[in-house]
Amino acid sequence: MPAVPVDFSIRPALDSDLDALLALERAAFTSDHLSPRQYRQHLHSASASVLAAVDADGLLGKAVVFYRAGSDIARLYSIAVAERARGRGVAKALLAAVEAAALHRHCLRLRLEVRKDNAAAIALYERLGFQRFGEKRGFYEDGVDAWRYEKRLTDKG
Ligand SMILES: CC(C)(COP(=O)(O)OP(=O)(O)OC[C@H]1O[C@@H](n2cnc3c(N)ncnc32)[C@H](O)[C@@H]1OP(=O)(O)O)[C@@H](O)C(=O)NCCC(=O)NCCS
Repeated sequence: MPAVPVDFSIRPALDSDLDALLALERAAFTSDHLSPRQYRQHLHSASASVLAAVDADGLLGKAVVFYRAGSDIARLYSIAVAERARGRGVAKALLAAVEAAALHRHCLRLRLEVRKDNAAAIALYERLGFQRFGEKRGFYEDGVDAWRYEKRLTDKG
């Protein structure tokens, strides 16, 4: 099969992305939304990175990563891709950018939680080398449990 052409780019999110970030958040998640205030904070925080995948028509996807002072573990808090852009490798590209950003911050591990009922996201993480190492019972606002995943980061690609 021919490779899907890459027609988007990844960059740090800007204040001007805020409306599109919030719209994507509402469309992609039924609960546990980041609020406008939280987004505004994260866009300017030294302990967070918000990455945006964009094409000529606007925002395709986003990832939010948190860092803690003194910790070599970065946490992927949220990743989402607009429905119109799914299956084109946008999440894969966002995660590669997240890993590079975390390594740049001297983080050696990337951790995340994922709903146990989110088969697409679980497939994504396992495909990209994340390993399940635990769970959090009733982690989400609606009471659903989370799996915990971790990936050891290396700059060897
Ligand atoms: C999960 C999500 C981010 C995937 O985004 P995407 O851009 O479509 O994913 P990609 O095209 O980069 O897929 C990369 C790999 O992930 C896996 N994958 C992605 N979507 C999948 C699906 N629906 N079913 C099974 N595997 C899937 C595949 O292994 C795929 O690799 P392949 O195409 O070579 O087989 C997207 O479906 C989404 O935004 N969902 C709603 C929000 C969400 O659940 N976020 C995760 C919260 S933890």
